[in-house]
Amino acid sequence: MWDELNHLRDENKNRWIMDLFERDGARADGFSVETGDMRFDYSKTLIDDAVRAALIELCEKVDLSRHRDAMFTGAAINETEGRAVLHTALRNLDGGSVLVDGQDVMPGVLDTLARMRSFAEDVRKGAFAGAGGSITDVVNIGIGGSDLGPAMATLALEPYHDGPVCHFVSNVDGAHVSDVLRPLDPTRTLVIVASKSFTTTETMTNARTARAWMLDGGGDPAGQFAAVSTALDKTEAFGIPAERVFGFGDWVGGRYSVWGPIGLPVILAMGPQAFDAFLRGGQAMDLHFRSAAWAENMPVLLALTGLWHHQICGYPTRAVLPYDQRLSRLPAYFQQLEMESNGKSVAMSGSSLTVPSGPVVWGEPGTNGQHAFYQLIHQGTGVVPCEFMIAAEGHEPDLAHHHRLLVANCLAQSEALMRGRSLDEARERMAAKGLTGDELDRQARHRVFAGNRPSTTLVYPKLTPFVLGQIIALYEHRVFVEGVILGINSFDQWGVELGKELATSLAPIVDGEQSAEGKDGSTAALVGFVLKHRG
Ligand code: F6P
Repeated sequence: MWDELNHLRDENKNRWIMDLFERDGARADGFSVETGDMRFDYSKTLIDDAVRAALIELCEKVDLSRHRDAMFTGAAINETEGRAVLHTALRNLDGGSVLVDGQDVMPGVLDTLARMRSFAEDVRKGAFAGAGGSITDVVNIGIGGSDLGPAMATLALEPYHDGPVCHFVSNVDGAHVSDVLRPLDPTRTLVIVASKSFTTTETMTNARTARAWMLDGGGDPAGQFAAVSTALDKTEAFGIPAERVFGFGDWVGGRYSVWGPIGLPVILAMGPQAFDAFLRGGQAMDLHFRSAAWAENMPVLLALTGLWHHQICGYPTRAVLPYDQRLSRLPAYFQQLEMESNGKSVAMSGSSLTVPSGPVVWGEPGTNGQHAFYQLIHQGTGVVPCEFMIAAEGHEPDLAHHHRLLVANCLAQSEALMRGRSLDEARERMAAKGLTGDELDRQARHRVFAGNRPSTTLVYPKLTPFVLGQIIALYEHRVFVEGVILGINSFDQWGVELGKELATSLAPIVDGEQSAEGKDGSTAALVGFVLKHRG
């Protein structure tokens, strides 16, 4: 299946992206795709007509449309857990019924959404209050998918906030919960315990600590806690009344769950209307993914570009570089989305993968990254495909000149990566500075940029709730397409289990209640060091 692409990679080895532009004056449009008012440009890569055709052929070979339709229509495509995958139902606002095992899930989805809306309105208007008055702050306690989505989206949409201030506690490190709670008023804080399973050690430990803090400070945990979970028996056992429990089906994966009750902090911060717009953005991307031909399908082209760079060209990592300070949690969010979904070495069939699994995803917002790690991206020995993102306009009309600089920097980076600077150009510069002979050569070599480094750019008018919804759904579907082509199940995460089990068995040893006998020498010695040095 990969032969033709490997052949094209070898054939294109010495090609220049810049030459592709010279040969084809319409390349920018030919290798960009638009949906709504969002544009994805993958022209600054070595993908040409032949490569694109071979990549699209992959979609046909794996029967991508059958897989896509199976997901949207509630088939149990998460085969290792025997579950449907229906985060798309959470944003299917007026899209009709969706059946799981013959049951329409939409009435339940819409009912929960209505409850979220009304709870959010009550909190925002002060009709729901704490022991000391209206709610000023919300603390979301969750981790992984029960944290990254709402934390990322809440920060991203800060200009739309007109509700209580939202805070996020995820790490079991007591420093996190302690630093977040310290400045808050326990009588006017709402705590949301967000856990799909309601068993995650970090979350339950933090939830108990927050409950004690609230009680100590005169708050009312029975009245000021809410829960988001699929495990309703466990939320009840924790003491959270049913009217403040927001459930969802096991057909929503943790890292895909921001669209439903896990998005409670987002709706509390910015209100039901803006949250609806966010859902509509996701739904718009779903409709595009379901209807556009592969060659014009944004999630598919994003996925194929990623497969070309990682599985075919062998570039081990991918940088996500949003030029937007408010998207500073987006790389971490995409890290979980991609690496927990596609970090697998076994195919759905049980056989070993014959191509690399998903890449390492990392990144930081621009322009900050430029002054930190871009050096390696420009001049390091390895190639890092970069995914730039930028809005045409910012949210600060008084500071429009800042945004113009932001845009210029974003576009300059992708241009510099592609164009590079040759030794001749570097020599010219050094000569202009008066250098001659060996010193000119030596200095010039340090100023050479290899160039020909691939990047893509996603550009959109403004980071609105609708656009954020589009971006997240775009990346979700990209990960799905990659998974289908790799033949893996993108919706389980067995790889996190072993560490969890060992942590449980180590806890009594670290507590000093059990001996480290039976542990390997390194682990036993490290425990010994900790026991000796703690106060
Ligand atoms: O350990 C991984 C994981 O299961 C993620 O997939 C999930 O998002 C996170 O832990 C939190 O799980 P829960 O929502 O059940 O607390």
